[in-house]
Amino acid sequence: MTQGRALPQFDDRLSRVDRENYWHAFTQMSEYEPLVFDSAQGVWLYDQHGRKLLDGVSSMWCNVHGHRHPVIDQAIRNQLEKVAHVSSLGASNSTSIELARRLVELTPAGLDCVFYSSDGSSAIEVALKMAFQYWRQRPEPEPQRELFLALGNAYHGDTLGSVSVGGVSRFHAMFDPLLFDAIRGPCPDSYRLPAGCQLDNAAAHYLQEYDDLLRRFRGRIAAIVVEPLVQGAAGMVMQPPGFLRGIRELATEHDVLLIADEVAVGMGRTGWLWACEAEQVAPDFLCTGKGLSGGYLPVAATLTTRQIWNAFLGTYEQSRSFFHGHTYGGNPLGCAAALASLNLIEDNLTLENVAAQGLVLEQCLSRLQQHPAVGDIRRRGLIAAVELVADRQSQVGFPWAERKGHLVCQAALSRGVWLRPLGNVIVIMPPLCCTSEHIEQIVESVQYGLHAVFSG
Ligand SMILES: Cc1ncc(COP(=O)(O)O)c(C=O)c1O
Repeated sequence: MTQGRALPQFDDRLSRVDRENYWHAFTQMSEYEPLVFDSAQGVWLYDQHGRKLLDGVSSMWCNVHGHRHPVIDQAIRNQLEKVAHVSSLGASNSTSIELARRLVELTPAGLDCVFYSSDGSSAIEVALKMAFQYWRQRPEPEPQRELFLALGNAYHGDTLGSVSVGGVSRFHAMFDPLLFDAIRGPCPDSYRLPAGCQLDNAAAHYLQEYDDLLRRFRGRIAAIVVEPLVQGAAGMVMQPPGFLRGIRELATEHDVLLIADEVAVGMGRTGWLWACEAEQVAPDFLCTGKGLSGGYLPVAATLTTRQIWNAFLGTYEQSRSFFHGHTYGGNPLGCAAALASLNLIEDNLTLENVAAQGLVLEQCLSRLQQHPAVGDIRRRGLIAAVELVADRQSQVGFPWAERKGHLVCQAALSRGVWLRPLGNVIVIMPPLCCTSEHIEQIVESVQYGLHAVFSG
């Protein structure tokens, strides 16, 4: 059982406010039971009942080095001694400049220009708007390029632009009337393969469909938007090997820009600093957020090429500037945390740990393979998913209203692990500093949850 520290200060009054006034994201408030974390250390979260819970989803896929890391804490304190916030609108700050330099240095070749925002959705909005404006302002304008090509089941955030290129209908269908049209290709899924396909020819199959769409909408597409390697909110859907590389080649061949959404998969999560590196891809835009600050503060960035930047230059009267900005874009406290986190990734050999613990995770998860409700177990770096199905043969999932994934994760809480599922998919994404013991505890908790829900 879990062991607690001293019980945090939490009373009925706070609980009532949490239920009645604090509107939680992606949460049915009529059923919400307060889960309050007022302290944390390393991979551990401490809740209001004094429970010590392993943060099995890195506080929504963003924590890298654990909570309250002394180096990141100190970097933020040091920055506080100078200034907490200055604007990026016509002004700058040494720490934000230094982070821009590091990002240019660390990202794939050609990404020389950094635009800051505060969250992943905004980083995507920036890329979409920049791509759109680029085609209108480049030396040989092509203003008819107004469309975006998105992947089936994509998720790029919750602002209206990012939802427009998203495709998770349970989240997005409600807002359809508010969205701009996007062209949608298939979801390049390695589990539910197209009829007649094997894993080794799946990429070619999907790419053919993308090629067809690019031909059909020739000259009208501004950019392709892709989550490299793993489509997170779709259910940690893993793309077949070669798909990302193939999309880059298609974008080049059809003279379309490529936006890589590294918000969830970047910052070491897949075992590469950037998922694009796994297939030697250099996109035209790279969006990063979540783990950029180590999972500490809201910092996001959109990186792009000099070619895009140049199309926005001109005299003041020409109005070619990018009229877009976020109050806290490039916030120095967040940038200080990001710089400290990037140093730690090098100093602590974080990528090496992801590779090693990823293998441990895979090995531990193989214990669940024979469970009749487990349809698929997939992993890339320290992203793993256990997909629950009603029928293994047909791969049909449980009706979502049965909330099987949620029930398993609820049971895992009693084994000291906090997980948050995506429908029938149990997501395992521990902080990148985790050890084999942590992995063992997470998998044991899922095993326990499966037993409690399906055999209990
Ligand atoms: C791939 C991807 N892009 C964008 C976002 C949006 O990021 P944010 O929640 O910081 O707006 C997310 C969030 O989960 C994501 O997974």
